[in-house]
Amino acid sequence: RWVFKGRDFLNLADYSADEIYYLLETAVVLKRRWMIGEKIEILSGKTLAMLFEKPSLRTRVSFEMAIHQLGGKAMYIGPQEVGLGKREAIKDVAMVLDRMVDAIMIRTFSHDNLIQMAKYSVIPIINGLSDLHHPCQILGDMLTILEKKGTLKGQKISYFGDGNNVCHSWLVAAGVLGLNLTICSPNNYQPQTEIWDWAQEKGSHSGATIVYEADPDIAAQDADVIYTDVWASMGKENEMEERIRHFQKLQVNQNTLDKAQPDAIVLHCMPAHRNLEITDEVMDGSHSVVIDEAENRLHAQKALLALIMS
Ligand code: CP
Ligand code: NVA
Repeated sequence: RWVFKGRDFLNLADYSADEIYYLLETAVVLKRRWMIGEKIEILSGKTLAMLFEKPSLRTRVSFEMAIHQLGGKAMYIGPQEVGLGKREAIKDVAMVLDRMVDAIMIRTFSHDNLIQMAKYSVIPIINGLSDLHHPCQILGDMLTILEKKGTLKGQKISYFGDGNNVCHSWLVAAGVLGLNLTICSPNNYQPQTEIWDWAQEKGSHSGATIVYEADPDIAAQDADVIYTDVWASMGKENEMEERIRHFQKLQVNQNTLDKAQPDAIVLHCMPAHRNLEITDEVMDGSHSVVIDEAENRLHAQKALLALIMS
């Protein structure tokens, strides 16, 4: 029996494979019960503070709806109010919120901000995206792959693009769960060595196959899941012009789909820069599951909140 209550969710590395599967199974159950209109107000009276240093559509709305549907209340605290480490010390923010709310979700630049928040508060801290990880995204993604493919193990998941937060969380998930992950990113935009090595080491025990493939045609070959993300993450928009030059060969387009399995699915965490990292044709095409994927943020995070807050 695992204990989820009170735990932080900063990085998938902090959870075992069994715990991640249990989270995903809980999401499946909650989604089914939600679809038949059942009310499950197990977080009645609980509050979630949501601190955002960056913009958001999916993370903000899915967390707000998740806690609302579980009977609790969310509070949005935007970039102007947060001032993490600027208006006041992170530890002061942590200690004050700890007395007033039941959990905190933070979208921040530096992953270290999350670690500091977790250090100075007792209540659960949830990573709603940092420069290093986006674990809630990958939870929703894995739920989507499970729904569409029936299994995560053995699926060839090919990631095209920046070695960013989303890529890092995929590497961690692959290492913990023993997945088959191919990373195709340009030179100088590869994932951090430390996270890569961690995933390889973990993956040597879990049976993962995690490979780097520079050639997008080879990376796409027989892929079951094609994944991409923006070439310039939030905060790096000014590098876009230069990045386009390095990334353009990695665009997910009809050629990518032609190389992949005939029943391949296409995921994108969104927001997407249409006709840069992914063509309109593919984004709106029959292989795309991006809207189901976005919806699954709600169900995955409901499971997370239910388990760590109730
Ligand atoms: N995928 C995702 O996290 O979207 P937002 O930036 O809109 O929250
Ligand atoms: N890598 C992207 C993900 C957005 C959800 C970013 O950090 O902006």
